[in-house]
Amino acid sequence: MTLATSPAHIKIDNLTFDYGGDRPAVDRLSFEIAKGEFIGLLGPSGCGKSTTLRMFAGLLAPTSGAIVIGGENIVSRPPWERNLGLVFQSYALFPHMTVAQNVAFGLRLRKVGKEETASRVAQALRAVRLDGFGSRRPAELSGGQQQRVAIARAIVIEPEILLLDEPLSNLDARLRDEMRFEIRDIQSRTGITTLFVTHDQQEALTMCDRIAVMNGGKLEQIGTPVEVYDKAATPFVAGFIGRANSIPATLASTAAATGAPQLLHEGQPLPPPVADELPAGISANARLSAVVRPHAVRLSRPEGGLTARVNRSVFVGNMIEVELELAGGHKMVAELLPGGEEAQLAQPGADVAVTWKSNDMRIFAA
Ligand SMILES: Nc1ncnc2c1ncn2[C@@H]1O[C@H](COP(=O)(O)OP(=O)(O)OP(=O)(O)O)[C@@H](O)[C@H]1O
Ligand SMILES: [Mg+2]
Repeated sequence: MTLATSPAHIKIDNLTFDYGGDRPAVDRLSFEIAKGEFIGLLGPSGCGKSTTLRMFAGLLAPTSGAIVIGGENIVSRPPWERNLGLVFQSYALFPHMTVAQNVAFGLRLRKVGKEETASRVAQALRAVRLDGFGSRRPAELSGGQQQRVAIARAIVIEPEILLLDEPLSNLDARLRDEMRFEIRDIQSRTGITTLFVTHDQQEALTMCDRIAVMNGGKLEQIGTPVEVYDKAATPFVAGFIGRANSIPATLASTAAATGAPQLLHEGQPLPPPVADELPAGISANARLSAVVRPHAVRLSRPEGGLTARVNRSVFVGNMIEVELELAGGHKMVAELLPGGEEAQLAQPGADVAVTWKSNDMRIFAA
């Protein structure tokens, strides 16, 4: 893992920002970033992503906490003394300047000489695959090209850290796909430590080395895409990254002592949990949540176990989405391959048995 091999480059320590609302917008955020890492800040609207980025950029002073870069707490440094490149969601270019002048802006502020400026601008435009566009004006570019100019303008100053706030949100789906690839490619080539804000889980999964999942100003989990997807630390993470069924369950009192714990939903047994999946210290009859992804759910003939009625079955091309209603009315979703025996069973109104592999189930205290 990156963190084990390279020293922590950035340490965010109990970072908090309070606008004066009923709770802080960013609430004691703590995590570390290694040099050259591409970190995603992911979470729903209003969870504090932009506020976090603004504190990095020096546009907001934290209410408390620290941002330590290379051993120095930078929170009291003014923005211009931080070596950061910043791309906002609305990639405001200066309309009256050419592309080259836009990209050169930060170098001019830093009093870089004419020749060096020209060569660095050319290099930055090459990096975003816009060589030859230097003399155009922003209005003569497509949205994706303007976006890339904004990125060139941020990377040309060779920042220590690149801050990107939803830089792809204004693009159409296809361009967004292409730009994901380009941004990641530029970042790999330049090795700039990057904080990438998004509320799009697909974007975070495909682009990031690690993802910090935020909710209500707090960090829910930070991990690699595989970790946050397969080993969600909280029900929120499981539901936010990919689809997840969350099934209310209790621990059967008989089993807690025998070492073969058994989970029940409305009196019916769920597949047996893997022993180390159970939250520590739970007692019999504790209320739990069993979380399983729709693609892990299997259907068979109703012969004991957890049973359900098929409410709806919808063919969506590469799979069939089946809505199931458990005894007691709790609904869940299964995703099946078309054409198989399971798909045959999934007729609306039919009764089925519902299972999944123990390994595919996560258990949380409710
Ligand atoms: N200037 C402000 N004054 C008061 N409250 C604010 C201000 N800016 C943001 N907030 C509040 O702080 C919280 C976090 O806002 P922030 O902009 O950081 O969210 P976000 O995660 O970037 O959301 P989005 O995905 O919608 O951009 C929200 O509840 C928001 O309403
Ligand atoms: Mg935002």
